[in-house]
Amino acid sequence: MSTATLEADRALQKKLCEIITSKTGIQLPENKRTMIEGRLRKRVRALGIRDLHTYLQMVMKEGMLETELPQIINVMTTNKTDFFREDAHFDYLVRNILPTHPKAQTFKVWSAASSSGEEAYTTAMVLNEHGKRSAGFNFSIVGTDLSTEMVRKARKGIYTPEEIVDVPDDMRALYLEEGHDSVGRQLTRVVKQLRDRVGFAQMNLMDKAYPVEKMMDVVFLRNVLIYFDDATQRRVVSSVTDHLKPGGYLFVGHSETSVAADPRLVQKAAAVFRKEA
Ligand SMILES: C[S@@+](CC[C@H](N)C(=O)[O-])C[C@H]1O[C@@H](n2cnc3c(N)ncnc32)[C@H](O)[C@@H]1O
Repeated sequence: MSTATLEADRALQKKLCEIITSKTGIQLPENKRTMIEGRLRKRVRALGIRDLHTYLQMVMKEGMLETELPQIINVMTTNKTDFFREDAHFDYLVRNILPTHPKAQTFKVWSAASSSGEEAYTTAMVLNEHGKRSAGFNFSIVGTDLSTEMVRKARKGIYTPEEIVDVPDDMRALYLEEGHDSVGRQLTRVVKQLRDRVGFAQMNLMDKAYPVEKMMDVVFLRNVLIYFDDATQRRVVSSVTDHLKPGGYLFVGHSETSVAADPRLVQKAAAVFRKEA
């Protein structure tokens, strides 16, 4: 490939990254070029296209951007998550939040960057166990994510053996069922009883208004703010805080504590914030 073509491709790729950032908030700086190209090539392979050059021409020059963008976002997002990730939050929930919750009110939780669903299903396991000890306790959980692929996976609730390693044995016995795929590989599915308690939807935290309920008891906004610039972090924290009830809690990732700077939030523990009335 000639130097001129290479430079033209780089310019197209840079423009594409700027569009992705403006739509998703995800920062894609020049120094991540290798990662960005690797992720775009995934899409190139999936489409059976010859090379990245051809793909960039199609997307940026031949009017395919609008239809391709959701797929590009799917490959460009980092979806790493685990069951019982940063489990101090679940301990805090059980020890400090649930005991004070009035039973007559449904306990409402939003997993605001739910990826493939592990965070929301972990919460469902913990809340369902609480319900066994506290008659009349009711809860609802919604998970939202930018990636349509992750929302699809979350709704299925099917995981590989590697993906469930952090689920404690007692929870595994109660809430996961073993199965196999069509070629005999072992897979595990969250039991229907739990899947029915959790809803998933595609949603962009960059949107002006969020189509989820206000008055949440707990919002998990974990390990997503790190991908945004300072101004976007502040705006997203503020918009998400609007969806907490007074006295509700915001959980952020343990590396994101300094970002939860909304004046309505008071820090209660590591990466735990309470919205003051
Ligand atoms: C690293 S995962 C974190 C998942 C989970 N919260 C956890 O802590 O394990 C980050 C998720 O944020 C999602 N995400 C990135 N930008 C987003 C945006 N603008 N709106 C909604 N979700 C977004 C990605 O698709 C990805 O699934």
